[in-house]
Amino acid sequence: MTDINAGGTFMLGDRSVRRMGYGAMQLAGPRVFGLPKDPAGAVAVLREAVASGVDHIDTSDFYGPHVTNGLIRAALHPYHDDLVIVTKVGAVRGADASWNPALQPAELVSAVHDNLRNLGVDTLDVVNLRITGAVHAPSEGSIEEPLSALAEPQQQGLIRHLGLSNVTPTQVEQGLSIAAIACVQNHYNLVHRDDDALVDSLDARGIAYVPFFPLGGFTPLQSATLSRVAARLEATPMQVALAWLLHRAPNILLIPGTSSLAHLRENLAATSLHLSDSVLADLDHIAAGPLDAASSH
Ligand SMILES: NC(=O)c1ccc[n+]([C@@H]2O[C@H](COP(=O)([O-])OP(=O)(O)OC[C@H]3O[C@@H](n4cnc5c(N)ncnc54)[C@H](OP(=O)(O)O)[C@@H]3O)[C@@H](O)[C@H]2O)c1
Repeated sequence: MTDINAGGTFMLGDRSVRRMGYGAMQLAGPRVFGLPKDPAGAVAVLREAVASGVDHIDTSDFYGPHVTNGLIRAALHPYHDDLVIVTKVGAVRGADASWNPALQPAELVSAVHDNLRNLGVDTLDVVNLRITGAVHAPSEGSIEEPLSALAEPQQQGLIRHLGLSNVTPTQVEQGLSIAAIACVQNHYNLVHRDDDALVDSLDARGIAYVPFFPLGGFTPLQSATLSRVAARLEATPMQVALAWLLHRAPNILLIPGTSSLAHLRENLAATSLHLSDSVLADLDHIAAGPLDAASSH
């Protein structure tokens, strides 16, 4: 079993979690819709992640919909006290697998209850308010109404901590003026670094930054430099991409997604990969310009 302790820990709300976590989105069927081909395999991935020390799992009831939460419950319920499950609200799925905004107060409260029921818990550890924006990029606009709508279920004890997802730095500031924010979950990885300044400003305030698409998401990262560095370190490009995030800032918590046990083991092992200053400088060049064919969507 891989030891992920070398990756260290960081606070997620009032809980210390290991910085290497797991993102459950890939466990649903194709296009994150319906059941996976191999539900038993999905359960095995979840159980091995937790057995390896993962104590932070990212999910949403709109993955499937209801499918990843059902798999998490089947694999891990009753949950160990140390496990922090982070979910998100703000969208619903159409019958055609489309992703549709659901940010009205009643829709958000209903999503909280869906997550409680399908995860089988009385309180959700962390609920991220997922703002729609432009697909996987944020766009400006007030988040006051939807964030305030989550205050009531929080006061009722249904939510322990609130987080934000797919938000701009301005929206983060607005969010912090309305509620305590435990984490921000945005698109960020070795080649997609729009949030560099936000990562640092959250670090200065002790707030976790959780990059989604840490490996490039639906289009896994490709870069000649990354492959070259990985070969030199006798690691895989994905391990180097994850190790780079762990080196990037102490408040970064990882939630790489996979439906494969082999990929899970490979990803967890990235916690032991040390990157020297010269390697970090080489990797920094990937985002700095079109030096090679770096890509991520
Ligand atoms: N807040 C948001 O709007 C938002 C958006 C997207 C995702 N998320 C969250 O972020 C988590 C991570 O994002 P993600 O899962 O979309 O993307 P990701 O972690 O960047 O990449 C996952 C993709 O990489 C593949 N992969 C994983 N490990 C690999 C390895 N070692 N070698 C080769 N390929 C590998 C996976 O395929 P295999 O299954 O074949 O391994 C999958 O196709 C999600 O699970 C979800 O919880 C949040």
